Amino acid sequence: MNSFVTVLLAAGKGTRMKSGLVKVLHTIAGLPMMAYPVKTAREAGCGKIIVVAGHQKQMVEDAFKNEDVLFAYQEEQLGSGHAVKAAEDHLRGFEGDVLILCGDVPLLTPGTLKQFLKSHEDNKAVVSVLSIHSDNPFGYGRILRNSAGDFSGIVEEKDASDPQKTIKEINTGIYCCKSRFLFDALKKIGNDNMQGEYYLPDIVSIGVKEGRKVQAVTTDDSREVRGINDRTDLAEAEKVMRQRILARHMKNGVTVIDPDSTYIDADVTIGKDTVIYPNTILRGTSVIGSGCIIEINCSVSNSVIGNNVHLKPSCVIDRTQAKDRVSIGPFAHLRPLSVIEEEAKVGNFVEVKKSRIGRGSKASHLTYIGDATIGRGVNIGAGTITCNYDGKNKHLTVIEDEVFIGSNTSLVAPVNIGERASVGAGSTITNNVPAKALAVSRSKQRNYNNYYRSDDKKGNDK
Ligand code: UD1
Ligand code: CA
Repeated sequence: MNSFVTVLLAAGKGTRMKSGLVKVLHTIAGLPMMAYPVKTAREAGCGKIIVVAGHQKQMVEDAFKNEDVLFAYQEEQLGSGHAVKAAEDHLRGFEGDVLILCGDVPLLTPGTLKQFLKSHEDNKAVVSVLSIHSDNPFGYGRILRNSAGDFSGIVEEKDASDPQKTIKEINTGIYCCKSRFLFDALKKIGNDNMQGEYYLPDIVSIGVKEGRKVQAVTTDDSREVRGINDRTDLAEAEKVMRQRILARHMKNGVTVIDPDSTYIDADVTIGKDTVIYPNTILRGTSVIGSGCIIEINCSVSNSVIGNNVHLKPSCVIDRTQAKDRVSIGPFAHLRPLSVIEEEAKVGNFVEVKKSRIGRGSKASHLTYIGDATIGRGVNIGAGTITCNYDGKNKHLTVIEDEVFIGSNTSLVAPVNIGERASVGAGSTITNNVPAKALAVSRSKQRNYNNYYRSDDKKGNDK
């Protein structure tokens, strides 16, 4: 296919979603639904993409600020033809083909799109429309054909006569047009119809009238071209997309024990021989290495997990980097901006926030590590807390290499524990500890002898 430009229609509100959020920003597998036609167009070879935004246009634009797409604005929604016109300024002097996609048709695949574009090119059409045969054509524009079977126009449900309503071939809303023809034809369409709108499909009858080549290209997978109109459609599309994503990972060598309960967002990458147990959700732009084991009930968001990492059951991991051979959980909470270096261990009921845990260091049980830098080979005893917050500000804790922190220690930040120092169990450390020193800060144990009396009835054994 020669170079082509895509115009993505995304100005409509989506009334049937009954939402405060514009339809095209509702997410499917972690991405706004309109991100999918953008990806599909790119995969089919499109360079330039123009998004026509209207409702909540600033939010639509913000959602794509890292994407190489242009925006055009349709201030008033006067119909799909009027919407395409809004993109004209971006296309002045462009003589190639314009692919028109809808922001609310997320399941179209690059394969189907490429076939459609090829047919458009091979047949030298000025307009090609992608159509399908549907047993339930209600609500869609119907494809009209003359007695010879040639495509002659599209009639909308609300404008159709009773015999036209029985037609089962419908317009998917996906078009490819010669740019010059498109914008000339859009000048000629009116809004004299039941909805008082400028209908994009009317360019077909204009092409026919002018004796130009128009065609309806039929595809057979109706799921691919299904538009999202309400929350039921959204849930169905989510399911289809999720299955596609899982199939892709399994094909690449990932074991998914229970696809029905595994949720992986579209932009997650996973290395081969990683095994994913049930009830796992991998979100956003997470990158999972190879040879990992992700046990049940883990949620990983926007994180980078190295190779051979073991996530034990029920971990919540957000914007964290866990390097090779790290072990995390069960029941660990890794909060944003944490880095767990190679072979370190974050055990059960441990929370880590904005901290670095050095290579081979261990915090095995019941600990809070916040705003801390922990060196190599450190042992953090059970129940250790970094007291990082004084009610107003956050302070840093530094624990240097090979430190031993006894159980149930409070480290009141800012505080520095020098290399190879030890802290006795139960200490509250408020001052820096020099390298290799032992710090103990707890009340001395006192024993009262002969406290037990044989005539004491309070539960003592006779
Ligand atoms: C449209 C087609 C119909 C086709 C169906 C497929 C028209 C007139 N009809 O109907 O033949 O079977 O899609 O799903 O086009 N939009 C704007 N601005 C507007 C109006 C629409 O950007 O002023 C966008 C919408 O956001 C949507 C697309 O155009 O992405 C289609 O518009 P919509 O109102 O959904 O048209 P349908 O009634 O579904
Ligand atoms: Ca629609």
